[in-house]
Amino acid sequence: MTLDQTAPAPTPAIAPGAPFDVEHVLASLTLEEKASLLSGLDFWHTQPIERDGSTLVPSVMVTDGPHGLRKQDESADHLGLGGSVPATCFPTAAALGSSWDVDLLRRVGEALGRETRANDVAVLLGPGVNIKRSPLCGRNFEYFSEDPVVAGDLGAALVEGIQSQGVGTSLKHFAANNQEADRMRVSADVDERTLREIYLPAFERVVTTAQPWTVMCAYNKVNGAYASQHDWLLTTVLRDEWGFDGLVVSDWGAVRDRVAGVAAGLDLEMPSSGGRTDAEVVAAVRAGELDEALVDAGARRVLRLVARSLPAAEAPGSFDVEDHHALAREAAAAGTVLLKNEPVGTASGRAPLLPLADVSDVAVVGELARTPRYQGAGSSQVNPTRLDDALTTLREAAGADVPFAPGYTLAEGPDDDRPVETLVAEAVETARGAGTVLVFLGLPAAYESEGYDRDHLDLPADQVALLAAVAAVNPRVVVVLAGGSAISVAGWQDAVPALLTGWLGGQAGGSAVVDVLTGAVAPSGRLTETLPLRLEDTPAYGNFPGELGHVRYGEGLLVGYRWYDARKVDVAYPFGHGLTYTTFAYDEAAAEVTGAGASARVRVAVRVTNTGAVAGAEVVQVYVGDPQAQVQRPERELKAFAKVVLQPAESRVVTLDLDSRDLSYWHPVLRRWVLEGGEFRVGVGASSRDLRAELAVDVTGEDVTLPLHELSTLGEALAHPVAAAAIRPALEASPIDPTMLAMATDMPLAVIADFGLAGFDRAALAQLVAAANA
Ligand code: BGC
Repeated sequence: MTLDQTAPAPTPAIAPGAPFDVEHVLASLTLEEKASLLSGLDFWHTQPIERDGSTLVPSVMVTDGPHGLRKQDESADHLGLGGSVPATCFPTAAALGSSWDVDLLRRVGEALGRETRANDVAVLLGPGVNIKRSPLCGRNFEYFSEDPVVAGDLGAALVEGIQSQGVGTSLKHFAANNQEADRMRVSADVDERTLREIYLPAFERVVTTAQPWTVMCAYNKVNGAYASQHDWLLTTVLRDEWGFDGLVVSDWGAVRDRVAGVAAGLDLEMPSSGGRTDAEVVAAVRAGELDEALVDAGARRVLRLVARSLPAAEAPGSFDVEDHHALAREAAAAGTVLLKNEPVGTASGRAPLLPLADVSDVAVVGELARTPRYQGAGSSQVNPTRLDDALTTLREAAGADVPFAPGYTLAEGPDDDRPVETLVAEAVETARGAGTVLVFLGLPAAYESEGYDRDHLDLPADQVALLAAVAAVNPRVVVVLAGGSAISVAGWQDAVPALLTGWLGGQAGGSAVVDVLTGAVAPSGRLTETLPLRLEDTPAYGNFPGELGHVRYGEGLLVGYRWYDARKVDVAYPFGHGLTYTTFAYDEAAAEVTGAGASARVRVAVRVTNTGAVAGAEVVQVYVGDPQAQVQRPERELKAFAKVVLQPAESRVVTLDLDSRDLSYWHPVLRRWVLEGGEFRVGVGASSRDLRAELAVDVTGEDVTLPLHELSTLGEALAHPVAAAAIRPALEASPIDPTMLAMATDMPLAVIADFGLAGFDRAALAQLVAAANA
């Protein structure tokens, strides 16, 4: 039978309650029908297949994501322009990530899953686990961290939670989508080791531990090939190496060559191409340019997605708006990071300003207290079920009318055409005599968004000037920051004793930050990204956002704290930092090694004690360094963390396990993970720059021997166990003295042979190479 004679086999419509048999349905489809499954029906749905007046393959809906549901009923766009159904706007990933709390993320995921299911949506398009390569990336608020372990563990917890409700997720944007500038064309030029160690592991962790139903490919190119047609990424790495068994969907509009995409493993193109690319796929098969088996593979994965989503579609369930709002508030408080809380003079001595002893003598300055910025712009923009602002919550807590002055205007705030001087003068008068002044500052909405990047890290100048004027009349200032990514604090933070950030905390971010200010909730967030002193200090500076279609990842592995640590650069606040209202002591740190090679394990244990007067949570962080490795490695890398809640005086031994992969590096020549034996340094502490214990452990791994070839250097040959034994006697008999030996160390063996320097010629060298590699 030739392809164009393919006729549908008679397949009965799916009887209600009958299982949807993927293979049975697939076998009955024509080539055209199979190709039609590989692209969307419209903006948000997959294509259905009708037979004889009934539905053979139902259509399913997928929609954004990641921190709330953006289900559009009437309009359709991927830029957050049109309206969407009300849904809980949970904290953005910047805030959720700062909680370092996998259990919390699982619970938030469950709530997101319930809302997705209740709205008859099959897949929530998230989470995003791209690495924050530069604080300038306009979409950093949608990502968790500059570190792959944090992004991977938290992303996996969110996926598990969402999928526990019978709906799917879309892990995005795969891969190396670390900027918005030119995002639909730019080539991220990044070496394999850096990809393997920094940009891919979060995806790997989520795929291998939580099996998301779908993975969304990125818009950009990776080393010259579009992610949407990147065979190595979509098939070799994702499916063959990591065992991904779900569907790959394109980012919206990311497909350039649909046929190449099908061949590379891109199953579903979104949104609809109006049938154009379906016809291209059919034509390519008919012309013998595309194997129909690849079309079958993609269609099968779409059918499997449909099959997986049917049980939830039949029983959508419901959710409790108030419960989810309360969870959003808990999560936003958990992600709030107290950066600084220094003692100031009071009537009874010196004490930190936070928690607020008394809300009745507080004054509030800053429009953001009244008009909260709680999420970012673009495809993730949610229509919240409720919206809390800090000012109203504070007034409720005080049971009185807390004085307030906006101090500056925001485009998204109420109309106020009074001159800036009047606004500042009013704020100064409001702040002057107050017991404590809470100054709400942050990035206006226009500063950061999907679709474009920032070009500086600063607050608006009018906000900085306002702060200076307020701090001049009242030193008891607490700054509350809002923003989805690192903000420069260097120019003004010395003027204030207390500083915290609630990031973009979702619809309950305003009330959550008040919970932290009053001490109703102890702050427990930690930075998942370094706060640098200057843009010029940041790792990608000079290589961001690239030019002429390319962005060079010139900093390589040294992303985030890895960079600042390697260069010993001062930062405003280090990765992992965050204070609370108590303090913790670490002691009895110990590390125990078991096994060797692939089965090597290091169990790190440390006793943590709450040494203060109130309960609090500590995030215990374990960093690994490998100073003896043959390749350069970052000074220290986070490999495990655990959040523990301790009552006053309570003490607990926290145990964290490392496996061989946690000690390994990606070998650029051998192109595999290598655990090189030797001494490792294990640091345990409260931030990347607050290590409370450093332990040395010996781990038995492999002795890395590289294949020898004629252009290996003399030095490499002398480090090779077989070659060294053969070469040494020849060297000893040769006229090479120690000075010449130093010069010859970096000389290729072929050149040494040609010069007759070490008693072997090309023929002997060929034999030596063969013996060494045997
Ligand atoms: C974004 C994705 C989003 C999609 C659908 C794209 O512009 O990059 O993250 O899921 O639109 O709205």
